[in-house]
Parts: sequence; structure tokens; C-alpha cells
Amino acid sequence: MVECSKDTLYSRVTLLSRATPIRIRAKMEKDSALEFERWREKKKIRVNELLDRFIEAHCPSVILEKALRHALFAGGKRIRPLIIYATSEALGVEASQVDPVSAAIEMMHSYSLVHDDLPSMDDDDFRRGKPAVHKEFGEATAVLTGDALLTYSFEVLADGATDLAIPDWTKILAKAGGAEGMIYGQLLDIESSESLLSLKELELMHRKKTGALFSASVELVTALRPGESFPELHLFADHLGLCFQIRDDLLDVQGKPEIMGKPAGSDKKNNRSTFVSILGEEEAERRLEYELELSLGCLQKIEGDTTNLENLARLIASRSH
Ligand code: IPE
Ligand code: IPE
Ligand code: MG
Ligand code: MG
Ligand code: MG
Repeated sequence: MVECSKDTLYSRVTLLSRATPIRIRAKMEKDSALEFERWREKKKIRVNELLDRFIEAHCPSVILEKALRHALFAGGKRIRPLIIYATSEALGVEASQVDPVSAAIEMMHSYSLVHDDLPSMDDDDFRRGKPAVHKEFGEATAVLTGDALLTYSFEVLADGATDLAIPDWTKILAKAGGAEGMIYGQLLDIESSESLLSLKELELMHRKKTGALFSASVELVTALRPGESFPELHLFADHLGLCFQIRDDLLDVQGKPEIMGKPAGSDKKNNRSTFVSILGEEEAERRLEYELELSLGCLQKIEGDTTNLENLARLIASRSH
């Protein structure tokens, strides 16, 4: 059951301004979209600087540094750090307190992409509009680049963590990225080439391969408020993860490679089970809308400022790359 009215599909600004003339309403919407764009840009710069400083200070090898920078600075959307900053705003947590987790999760995500593109995984030659790391630097360096990013993700976390946060943060990140989380999802994905998954199995696979890092992005922030529980935020992340991956599956069929910066048709080439292969495009789109509605419904129940979480959810559901 969707626990929100149809109105939640429209932005807060739209709701607030229903009684205002159309011209003024359009301007308010434009202003709020611009504000979100500015916020996104600022936070992307923030995480880029964190990553840049870390690599600058910690990488002893010229070639590895080149490969790491290729993997980290090719124009990723930084969605997981953005979820972290938007969640911290909703909880009234300072951005500086979550900088380490924001850098850590992006490193873990980038490692997963470097390995995901390898010939033994999805065998994709392009990522973010550039040759995949193994195409540019060779397979062995790509494996090591991924390994370095994964281990760095824990180092950056430990570097910036307060005594209070370290144990929780480490566990959250390890569980989300490890054999109970993303790795399990990647394995299920690869196995799905052999036999068509049921919808339940597909959902599990998506929750693990992509959803786990989305949920971790929220949990790493709520961990800073021990003793309090935020079930709606965690549920929000779960629906958001599904939104993201259903969109990814749709883009693999409908997307334009020149906009996505990666090849379309990768899932088909690898005979993977996806929301599209199991439900068809139309039904997958309906399910995406439904998951978006559910995620926005969760935000309605949160007291803090969830404007940027809401904007992010809409962006994720409608993204073209
Ligand atoms: C793509 O993730 C890979 C999946 C997890 C499906 P993103 O779309 O977040 O990738 P970038 O970082 O923006 O390139
Ligand atoms: C990647 O999923 C998920 C992880 C790397 C954990 P996909 O294989 O669907 O991602 P794209 O489509 O290559 O970006
Ligand atoms: Mg894959
Ligand atoms: Mg892939
Ligand atoms: Mg995909």
C-alpha cells in the first residue's frame, strides 16, 4: 500500500504554491531546481576535493595514481555522497562530520565499477565516457586499482572517524560492500545469466548489488545519532536503491551510450536477468514510479529538512545517465 497521497509526486514548491499564478509558480519551481543544482555542484566539489587530497597524500606509485584518478575523476554523479550529505541535513548533522564516509563510499563504489567492467565480469569497454580502467591501463592494473580503492575506503574512514563512530562505520561499510551485500549481489547478477530469476530473486539481487550501498549511505549518517532509530529513512534508502537500479536496467535498453558514457545493451549481451527482461519495459517503468512514490512517502514522515533527499529521489528516478 502506498502511504502517501498523489500530491507527494509533486515537489514541495508545487504544493506550497498551488494557489499562486502559473507564471510565479513556474519561476518558483525554476528557482528551487536551480538551488538544487547549486547544492549538488557544491557537494560534488566537496567530495572531489576530499578524494583528491587523499590520493595526493597516500599514493606512492605514479601509474597507480593515474589509474586511481581515471577511476575516480571521470565525471561520476557522486550519488552516494549526495545521499549522505542530504541525510545529514535532514538529521541536523554537520557536513564536516560525514566527509569521511562520503569519500569512503565513493571509493568503494568506484572500485566496484572498475571490477564490474572487467572482461571476466561485464566485459564493458567504456565507463563515464572514457575507456574502462582495464582498457586504458591493462587488466592487472585495473584489478589492483579496484583493490586499492576498496582498502583506501576503510583508511579514509578511519582517518576521519571520531572514536565514537569508528566501530559502527567500519561494520556498516564492510557489511554493505562485502559478501553479505554488494559482492553477494554481483554474484547473483552473474549467476542470473544461467537461469532466469523470479521477481523475488531479482529484487534480492538488486537490493544487494546496488541497494546495499544506498542503505549504507543513510546508515553511516544515522550511526552518528546512536540511541535513536530512523526506520523511515532506512526504508527510504531501500526504495531509493530499487528506483536507482530499475532505472539502470531501463537505461541499459533505452539509454543513449553517448549520454550514459557507457555502452547500452550490456545486460542483454551478458544474458542478465533485469527488471526489463523479467517485467518488460512498461511494467518496469510502472514499478519505478511505484518505488519513487514509496520512497517519497517515507520522507513525509521525517521531521527534518528532506528537500534535497526528495530532489535526489526524483533525479535518480528520471536520470538519463
Ligand atoms: C552505476 O552507478 C553502476 C551501478 C551501481 C548500477 P552510478 O550511476 O552511480 O555511476 P557513476 O558513479 O555516476 O558513474
Ligand atoms: C553494477 O551494476 C553494480 C556494481 C558495480 C556493484 P551494473 O553492471 O548494472 O552497472 P553498469 O550498468 O555496468 O553501470
Ligand atoms: Mg554488472
Ligand atoms: Mg556493468
Ligand atoms: Mg547496469
